[in-house]
Amino acid sequence: MQLLTKILISMCLLIFAVDAFPSETPGLVFDPSKLDMGTALEGEKVTATILIRNNGSDFEQIVKVESSCGCTTVEPETRMLVGGAFTPLHVEVDTFGKLGDIRKSITMTDQYGKKRTAWLTLHVKKNPHIMNEKRSIFDGKCASCHVDPAKGKTIGSEIYTAVCVMCHGAGATGGYAPSLLKFKDVHVLDAIISNGTGTHHMPAFAQNKGGPLNEKQINTLAKWIISLDE
Ligand code: HEC
Ligand code: HEC
Repeated sequence: MQLLTKILISMCLLIFAVDAFPSETPGLVFDPSKLDMGTALEGEKVTATILIRNNGSDFEQIVKVESSCGCTTVEPETRMLVGGAFTPLHVEVDTFGKLGDIRKSITMTDQYGKKRTAWLTLHVKKNPHIMNEKRSIFDGKCASCHVDPAKGKTIGSEIYTAVCVMCHGAGATGGYAPSLLKFKDVHVLDAIISNGTGTHHMPAFAQNKGGPLNEKQINTLAKWIISLDE
């Protein structure tokens, strides 16, 4: 009887020990899984290297590595890792258009479909030399996410989800950029969306000003934002 109690207690301890250190589960892990990249001037490209480790004994494969915003590029040196091996992952964040505290995630998927996430933080300071910068969130590789999703959209909420939500947040309640709920006048809102605020953070969205939206889309979008409750 006493022996059985002892065995039961040690089993409980063992389960507790395994539970208390979930990071010890074998497989691919980010090292570190949280990285502060420090402070940069807007427009600078900030780079860092983090490791992907296989802390198990079986062979593992990195099937996919993705970042939340395309302005962060990531590429592992190798995608095949035997037990105990690691590979460097080179990360580059393009800080163009960004200001303040930025948080980006990187997600990797292994051959079983299991995902793990690493978090990058950095602080972007205003850069006096970038004010006349001709680049925009509508250019080049940025366009696939900040322009194309609005194509053919005719419903206000869908246009918003396509090209505004990433900065102004769900329900226009604010996020990286301010809340839009204070606006009461469709014409005022229409004008700001069409012409932008004069900074490259909020460029003109009207097609005749180089943006992605036609007049009708902007009007429908402005009406939808006004219709939201504060
Ligand atoms: C693969 C899609 C994708 C591409 C490509 C992309 N973005 Fe983004 N962008 C997003 C998403 C999604 C968010 C909001 C979520 C996030 O960043 O984690 C975002 C957010 C932003 C923000 C708000 C601040 C922030 O980082 O949260 C800025 C500014 C921005 N992007 C600029 C750019 C620029 C400039 C480019 C081109 C160099 C670009 N993006 C390319 C998807 C993309
Ligand atoms: C890449 C990020 C980004 C995207 C995408 C974006 N905005 Fe903005 N927006 C901002 C920022 C940042 C500001 C704050 C003013 C500034 O810095 O120019 C702003 C300001 C505004 C303002 C003025 C707010 C005020 O308080 O005066 C309005 C209105 C607005 N945005 C509407 C929109 C709408 C509608 C969309 C989608 C069509 C959109 N924005 C897409 C970043 C963005």
